[in-house]
Amino acid sequence: MASEKTFYLETFGCQMNAHDSEKVIGTLQQQGYRRVETEEDAGLILYNTCSIRDKAEQKVFNRLNDYKKLCKEGKRFAVLGCVAQQEGEKIFDRAPYVSLVSGSASYRNLPEMLTRLEAGESRITGLDDRETDETFETEFTARQNPYRAYITIIEGCDKFCSYCVVPYTRGKERSRSSSSVLGEARRIADLGYTEIQLLGQNVNSYRDPEGKSSFAELLAAVGQVPGIRRVRFMTSHPRDFTRDIVDVIDQVPTLCDHVHLPVQSGSARVLASMAREYTPEWYLERIAWLKAARRPISLSTDIIVGFPGETVEDFIQSLDLLAQVQYDCVFAFKYSARPNTPSLVMIDSVPEAEKNRRLQVLLERQREIQRVNYFKHIGEIVEVIVEGVNPARGQVAGRSSQNKPVNFAWSQPIAPAPGSYLCVRITGAFPNSLVGEPV
Ligand code: 5AD
Ligand code: SF4
Repeated sequence: MASEKTFYLETFGCQMNAHDSEKVIGTLQQQGYRRVETEEDAGLILYNTCSIRDKAEQKVFNRLNDYKKLCKEGKRFAVLGCVAQQEGEKIFDRAPYVSLVSGSASYRNLPEMLTRLEAGESRITGLDDRETDETFETEFTARQNPYRAYITIIEGCDKFCSYCVVPYTRGKERSRSSSSVLGEARRIADLGYTEIQLLGQNVNSYRDPEGKSSFAELLAAVGQVPGIRRVRFMTSHPRDFTRDIVDVIDQVPTLCDHVHLPVQSGSARVLASMAREYTPEWYLERIAWLKAARRPISLSTDIIVGFPGETVEDFIQSLDLLAQVQYDCVFAFKYSARPNTPSLVMIDSVPEAEKNRRLQVLLERQREIQRVNYFKHIGEIVEVIVEGVNPARGQVAGRSSQNKPVNFAWSQPIAPAPGSYLCVRITGAFPNSLVGEPV
């Protein structure tokens, strides 16, 4: 009897990667593999990797190093995702016990690659599909969250920001047809999911290959699928952020009160050097549209400190922009030079200690902004989706439409089920979460 086929998969990086892993898991299960919880129990060990910053990239090589002894027991290793696409066959030289290296644009060939792996082949690659027009969809997606479903609407990126690996690791932009997206949304709703998150590296540069829907129209259509109560979308590029997106948020109540709009810098000079294709004024005009929406829309952003050539004055302009926008959440990163990117040839002029200082200053300022923002919710009644229940402590963790964590105590004998919705009166606030009581 053939021994059972088992796999262990660990995911690094963004939600696109997390969702790719759901598709990879589904594909493996379809091929007769069973998922196990540890590397030790698995016949096949897969890492779905991220290369956005050097630190993220190092993680997979550390992991491979930690577990290399397992290859002596006949286990096979596969490296998937962005580091796989970026490093390609060099991974076999660095870690010869790896048998399969595949970028995300080649996942539709996974069944065939797995068959070759099972036949004992090594050095199998899926690296040549970055020019493809296809996206990777599978009916076997193994969704890992029982109430929130991710749907990819666009893959790849054509923006080529000077610091960013994504156009090289995920290939050129390709959108799915609106009828295929809507079909998936309806199937998901029929399965009982109530929240949909539309995903793309650059979600609002969506172009329907069938020419039926703009991005805003697709948002409206997904938001009107019966059974769907919340729709989110990630990540938007300011350059493609059109006013009809705000109009549609105004009109369709299921579209969440939250927009993530990465700014990267508050300095016009740095933005130009980053090839972001907008100025701070252009960006702030879009923020003004969002602030004028009928419902209060929570805003979040990504920001890079210490980009090559960023002066203290440039950095202060980033701080000023944070003060002006008053975001509810900021993801801040130190610039990290990446292979293949145009900024690699720029002099990484800001010393590490100064990058650290700027990061700390920025995070401290932002903490104060959030302290004030979150405090303003006290006294409001907000609808939350229950995400977790700790019966021993009588604590429930939920999330508001604005994407803010809301925690509350539960004293009734039956705790609310994860995935259910209820209303909570906000009684307290921290810089990153709210507390309240169910009403
Ligand atoms: N260095 C630092 N941060 C980066 N990001 C992307 N590339 C880099 C880089 N080379 C950040 C951007 C992006 C987020 C996902 O990661 O802020 O929006
Ligand atoms: Fe990391 Fe970017 Fe790849 Fe996502 S797309 S896994 S953030 S490198």
